[in-house]
Amino acid sequence: MNAPLRSDLPMLLEASRIETRVAELAAQLSSDYAGRTPHLVGVLKGAWVFMADLVRCLTVPCTVDFLSIQSYGSGAVSSGEVKITKDLDLSIEGRDVLVVEDILDTGRTFSYLQEVFAAHRPASLRLVALLDKQSRRVMPVQADYVGFPIPDVFVVGYGLDFDQKYRNLPDIRYIP
Ligand code: IMP
Ligand code: MG
Repeated sequence: MNAPLRSDLPMLLEASRIETRVAELAAQLSSDYAGRTPHLVGVLKGAWVFMADLVRCLTVPCTVDFLSIQSYGSGAVSSGEVKITKDLDLSIEGRDVLVVEDILDTGRTFSYLQEVFAAHRPASLRLVALLDKQSRRVMPVQADYVGFPIPDVFVVGYGLDFDQKYRNLPDIRYIP
């Protein structure tokens, strides 16, 4: 096997710490959703690595879907407007929907999704975010499950990108 991608960027969360925490989150979710079949909705592209690891640790049956969101603006600065660029394939009506996000930042994405999803009448709607940048919040939303609260730094790796790069780093690093 080849060695994983190397990077000189400063480390925030090593792969082994992420792995441990993802397993803990999955155990909590498996307990909270016992007897039910949660419908996991991953927000592309950032959440795909986290979601892939998370579902493999769940001990309850689940179904999965993805949607893609684009926020206007480029780089690290967002203008605040969001739109769906790839919609859901499956109905969420009556389902226990669990939105899976890489990071909760300003909260605009999840706030928007809450509004759009509510119109489709899910049985429940919760959010699991691997990372939470609480200090950046603009909208009054919070995640029901958080992997790691982090400071206001721009992070990459484990699915998260800067200009579409670094998504394949096995750990989470930050741009100084
Ligand atoms: P929101 O501001 O809560 O709507 O988050 C929007 C999206 O911005 C997140 O889902 C990420 O895709 C992206 N994002 C926010 N902070 C970071 C970061 O530090 N690194 C990479 N992507 C980020
Ligand atoms: Mg994202």
